[in-house]
Amino acid sequence: MIKVGIIGVGTVGESVAKILKENQDVISARAGKAIEVKCGVVRDINKKRDVDIPLSANVNDVLEDGEIDIVVELMGGVEEAYKVVTKALKNKKAVVTANKALLAYHRYELQTIAKDLPFAYEASVAGGIPIINALRDGLSANHIDSIMGIMNGTCNYMLTKMRDDGVGYDEILKEAQQLGYAEADPTFDVGGFDAAHKLLILASIAYGIDAKPEDILIEGIENITQDDISFAKEFGYEIKLLGIAKKDDTEVELRVHPTLIKKDEMIAKIDGVMNGISVIGDRVGETLYYGPGAGGDATASAVIANIIEIARGGGRSPMLGFNRPMEGKLKLKNTNDVSSRYYLRINVDDKAGVLAKITKHFEENSISIETMLQKPIKDTANLLISTHTAKEKDIQNLIEELSNLAFVKQKPVMIRIV
Ligand code: NAP
Ligand code: HSE
Repeated sequence: MIKVGIIGVGTVGESVAKILKENQDVISARAGKAIEVKCGVVRDINKKRDVDIPLSANVNDVLEDGEIDIVVELMGGVEEAYKVVTKALKNKKAVVTANKALLAYHRYELQTIAKDLPFAYEASVAGGIPIINALRDGLSANHIDSIMGIMNGTCNYMLTKMRDDGVGYDEILKEAQQLGYAEADPTFDVGGFDAAHKLLILASIAYGIDAKPEDILIEGIENITQDDISFAKEFGYEIKLLGIAKKDDTEVELRVHPTLIKKDEMIAKIDGVMNGISVIGDRVGETLYYGPGAGGDATASAVIANIIEIARGGGRSPMLGFNRPMEGKLKLKNTNDVSSRYYLRINVDDKAGVLAKITKHFEENSISIETMLQKPIKDTANLLISTHTAKEKDIQNLIEELSNLAFVKQKPVMIRIV
């Protein structure tokens, strides 16, 4: 018998407790032993919950219980969760977590503290998709050329609904929260941070890179409007929030941002709460991973897979996939050195000569325009412009210059084109 303590019995924790009970026939047969939740820890013991496990409001009831073998951390947050997980490991318990924010900041320290104790985190990236397993074990013979994909279910759900139903941003965000997709603080989703946390975890496994969220380019979906969506429709694109990791000989670029992607690309077809990640290995070629990226049951599916793995005696492989550092380690690429095609939405006074002045700034920054649309709004106009390949630093310079012009009404919105 394996005894589990769950710290955090919210959306995911409730599903873990329920599935462990309802699917116990298949779970215990696969694990080779029974698995029982001995205690769940919550903040508010009086809140009504849809589970029948013993509850406590004291984490030590799990962390200091000598009978508990596996601590499942599903409380979220960074520093408090770090303390809880560290104490669990110091008390010689195996740990399973779905907490990508914790791992984005503390994965290397936790790997050191865990040493040979099982530490598993499949649910931290792309919900129910077993991407950690695939990347860390299934593709371990490969140099990883790139990882690119939709890594946040909330944003993909919102962008899909904005496109299909024209529903307002706030209303759809509320829906995503009610469905259990969003983080406790949804700015982590819409601001791109949650996808960045996941990208950093994948980048550690693929490249051994120890980067923090502050080190990489992160942009969210907060500024996307129906104008951008109709431009995308008109020119055959979808707008997706992508996490991108790309390697060259010496450097890896890591970025998260909304992206215009051609409709016929596989990733462009992934809608709703689904996530989809493409991984290209130098020997295997392209592999694709698709499935539900958020939600209680889908995430619990990955959490329980880790519990079963540990019950079988596994989960001890090097947590982040490397037994020792690579020689000639890869460096993180400076964002300014990245090149892309770009889309810009520039809101300007609808007056004679404005367009000519705007295009002059493009020319001065060596940025070539590919397509252009003008949409009048009262006495202003939205210029919707796509460019040929340009350098990130030139685009940033252009945006700064345009923002300072009197006839440009607000900071231009930019979306990169893949
Ligand atoms: P949630 O619904 O907000 O649940 C959090 C749970 O943790 C609640 O039961 C809460 O107690 C408890 N908790 C929070 N702080 C605590 C503390 N200091 N001491 C004791 N208990 C505490 O969150 P969730 O959606 O289940 O997410 C849990 C974790 O899984 C997060 O790290 C999240 O990023 C990750 N995750 C979530 C999803 C998803 O689709 N939701 C998918 C993948 C990963 P109360 O109930 O009393 O407030
Ligand atoms: N809030 C996250 C998302 C949960 O929407 O993708 C899954 O990690």
